[in-house]
Amino acid sequence: MTKVRTPFILVNFKTYSEATGRNAVRLAEIAERISLETEVCIGLAPQFVDIVSISSTVSIPVFAQHIDPIAAGSFTGHILPEAVREAGAIGTLINHSERRLKLVDIDTTVRRARESGLLSVVCANNAIVGSAAAALNPNMIAVEPPELIGTGIPVSKAKPEVVSGTVDQVKRINPDVVILCGAGITRGEDVAAALRLGTEGILVASGIVKAKEPYEVLMEFAESVT
Ligand code: G3P
Repeated sequence: MTKVRTPFILVNFKTYSEATGRNAVRLAEIAERISLETEVCIGLAPQFVDIVSISSTVSIPVFAQHIDPIAAGSFTGHILPEAVREAGAIGTLINHSERRLKLVDIDTTVRRARESGLLSVVCANNAIVGSAAAALNPNMIAVEPPELIGTGIPVSKAKPEVVSGTVDQVKRINPDVVILCGAGITRGEDVAAALRLGTEGILVASGIVKAKEPYEVLMEFAESVT
């Protein structure tokens, strides 16, 4: 995990227009500035088509939002892990709530990420799924209760037991996995609460992407972990 340090803030751009195309590059530049100013590791997960422009503009870690567990060849419309790596991403989300996979496919996808030199962040909706994911030996697990995603109600405050329960169970199975949490995080104090629950970072989307002043909010996040 040489390219990612904890505490880690990973910003998922999803398919928000505020984080698409030129807006994606602008947001990436803001994140890079904050990362340089605070020395907090901030990563970005833009849409596939924005990976090249972002990774050639900024030097902070870029992740894909998904990869397919396929090899090079005849797989029209699929996302080849090596292509994502070559585009400049250093990692990928896997099994996001908005892009769910079967366990068998999560397993193959984590392996393919490893083979192609990508860090894997497997998303889990609860501690049970987090534990299953831990056995697959990904680099990171992000626990996100889907019902809180995009609500502005922070998981670290609304469901602290889901976060701490996932930390306990995952670390018992695989102490090397870095655990993030996400859903509804909009303030620095939510990020601090997440770390107090034993996580080593957060996965966030609308709290930054839809913020009126993304610089201010992301700076508040970064300052809350230093
Ligand atoms: O991937 C991050 C995510 O699903 C959380 O979304 O908008 O609640 O920060 P949000």
